[in-house]
Amino acid sequence: MAYATPRAATQGRCIYYGTVLHFLRDPGTQQDPAAWQLFDPGALVVGADGRVEWVGPEGEVPPELGDGTPVDHRGKLIVPGFVDAHLHASQVDVIASYGEQLLQWLEKYVFPAEKAFVDIDHSRIISGLFLDTLLASGTTTATVHPTVHKASVDAFFEEAENRSMRMLSGKVLMDREPYAPPDLKDPSVEQAEADTRELIGRWHQKGRLTYSITPRFAPSSTESLLQMVGRVYQEMPDLWLQTHAAENTEEVDTVKELFGGRSYIDVYDRYGMLGNRSLYAHSIYIDDQDRTRLSQSGSTIAFCPTSNLFLGSGLFNLDAARAAGVRVGLGTDIGGGTSYSMLATLNEAYKVLALQQQKLSAMRGFYLATLGGAEALYFEDRIGNFQTGKEADFVVLDWAATPVLKRRTEVSADFQERLFALMTLGDERAVRATYVLGQERYSNTNQIAVPPR
Ligand code: GUN
Ligand code: ZN
Repeated sequence: MAYATPRAATQGRCIYYGTVLHFLRDPGTQQDPAAWQLFDPGALVVGADGRVEWVGPEGEVPPELGDGTPVDHRGKLIVPGFVDAHLHASQVDVIASYGEQLLQWLEKYVFPAEKAFVDIDHSRIISGLFLDTLLASGTTTATVHPTVHKASVDAFFEEAENRSMRMLSGKVLMDREPYAPPDLKDPSVEQAEADTRELIGRWHQKGRLTYSITPRFAPSSTESLLQMVGRVYQEMPDLWLQTHAAENTEEVDTVKELFGGRSYIDVYDRYGMLGNRSLYAHSIYIDDQDRTRLSQSGSTIAFCPTSNLFLGSGLFNLDAARAAGVRVGLGTDIGGGTSYSMLATLNEAYKVLALQQQKLSAMRGFYLATLGGAEALYFEDRIGNFQTGKEADFVVLDWAATPVLKRRTEVSADFQERLFALMTLGDERAVRATYVLGQERYSNTNQIAVPPR
């Protein structure tokens, strides 16, 4: 058979040949084999509209789909595009900032960097670089904090739209000193609400873009700001909400002093912020009552292991959250996190859980990075696996990307051992190509260009 080069094969129906893995549900701690489908060798058929038409064994492509252009990724692993459940487009230049924990790190590094986003040109350049870096890491959907500036939201959504990526974001809201510095504050709650409504009107549900109302976190919010957030969120049943919660012990103590309440999650609950499509990044310092409340309300958590280790924040208890029925996605939390790669993030997740006598299998890890993330963002009906009709965002991974990975793959006894080696040793170097709606948007033969400063 004559295979098209991947880059040329962007018109009409395409049949991608390779080892195909995707998930139907969480394999859990018991490795439920009905939770995934592995086709080795397999084929993925994508229609001209960028949606999945069929997935299955290589030799069983239905005859009526057989006219598709064959694309050769044989020997590589094809999985759904990674979903990054929490990170900051404004912190491209903050990653790898030395020596502080959360509150001091925000003051010393994050807020100075975020001030520059008042400038739309800066916002555009950084947003473009940020999104290209996600694509180069195999990430096709993310829920993203920009800054308090409207320009940062416009620039981010424009750049996401240019790349056809399914992205969630919204203007950061912050109005309480000192956790919001004076020159990075919403001037009033009324203005914050007006700006939010204007941006919702401009971007929400535009193509693949989704607006998420984004109070930064409780310490940088007045009570009236959180009241406004809860009111707008309750008023619009299809609005998303994202924030941070219970990441660091000093932060938790601050919230107790400022707001009282039984717990950090309880404070957000008080303002009507819990519910479907609301996401609480980190949620390390929560108890069983909080987990039950998050689960019952349909609220979700983003587990951000590289950030939690780098900022010395603490260890997230995944098994307790999942046992309580909370939807959990995996986040890089750039720039608290230290890698854009969801593979590197899984590697650190494994270690965070090992320190708590928990195990993260490769199957559960890849579930979390794909369908689990889609579920955490309430987009499991559109993305996250290769069921017919889903949007065909996918990534092609190379088992032999580095000599260490190649060798470890060769000596692996079975698929799950190989996959665990990829999860532990892989990073953006393992990404051969990234497709968005069936279009190749990144190939490792075309490295991204970093704009000069
Ligand atoms: N809490 C409030 N703001 C931030 C932020 O920018 N990064 C992280 N990791 N936590 C936060
Ligand atoms: Zn964050």
